[in-house]
Amino acid sequence: MITVVRTIADLRAAVAKWRKSGDSIGLVPTMGALHDGHMSLVTRSRAENKRTIATLFVNPTQFGPKEDLAAYPRDETADLAMLQNAKVDALYAPSIGEMYPKGFATTVTVAGLTDSLDGPHRPGHFAGVATVVSKLLLQATPDRAYFGEKDFQQLQVIRRLSADLDIPVQIVGVPTVRDADGLALSSRNRYLGKDERAHAAALPRMLSDIANRLRKEPGAVAREIAWGHRQLEDAGFQKIDYVDVCDEATLQPVTRITSPSRVFAAAWLGKTRLIDNWKI
Ligand code: PAJ
Repeated sequence: MITVVRTIADLRAAVAKWRKSGDSIGLVPTMGALHDGHMSLVTRSRAENKRTIATLFVNPTQFGPKEDLAAYPRDETADLAMLQNAKVDALYAPSIGEMYPKGFATTVTVAGLTDSLDGPHRPGHFAGVATVVSKLLLQATPDRAYFGEKDFQQLQVIRRLSADLDIPVQIVGVPTVRDADGLALSSRNRYLGKDERAHAAALPRMLSDIANRLRKEPGAVAREIAWGHRQLEDAGFQKIDYVDVCDEATLQPVTRITSPSRVFAAAWLGKTRLIDNWKI
């Protein structure tokens, strides 16, 4: 039976009990509206740890003033049923006041990795993510924590902060789960209208085509980025935040593939912002 805990004290009591029995612990942080992408993190954690804790917290500090915090999908009952079915041991779902009590004044910022890609398009976003993930890791003290490659920049930011702050946890990256047409599963996909949903698959198709071609022609980065923009425009994306090819470790743009790299894109279909990336 899954236990629901809402306070740091109750979370720590559950963790202490499991530690006493020698159980390893995996943590799966989420903002809820769970789908099979989230559940793949759960499956991986269950395979690698005796106990798995999922967290549900729609973190206000990672949403910009014009972003979708109020509209963000919330369905704790459905989320709880999915986690219970998947045999998760505990759901940690703190209130905003528990996470950010009166007087809260600390922010974790990760330099460098947040200069590119989503960083300039979402000011403050990664500071919000880095701060809440640091807190979740310190509250739960898991052996391992699981994050999706779908949000690859987020994954690298979290690897960096856990190393820099000496948080004793192994950060595990999990491959992106996709629909049959290639679209990465995302809580935000439910905002897409029927027509938009049909066109959305142009994004992953473009990324995988570019990755395939750059494997054969490592110097063709500029040409491929221009081609990627045209593909998205033709598919009806109204605004393209970026199509970029970056080194996986530094997330700095490259003009030629000489090290492990990925192609990244963020673009808008109507009011919905989609992001995705593909390994080259
Ligand atoms: P959320 O968007 O709910 O995602 C929770 C985790 O699920 C993240 O690690 C994300 O990368 C992963 N994920 C989402 N879609 C996925 C897919 N299609 N395949 C594989 N993994 C996928 O990311 C966040 O929440 C927040 O920023 C959080 C880390 C919880 C901090 O608030």
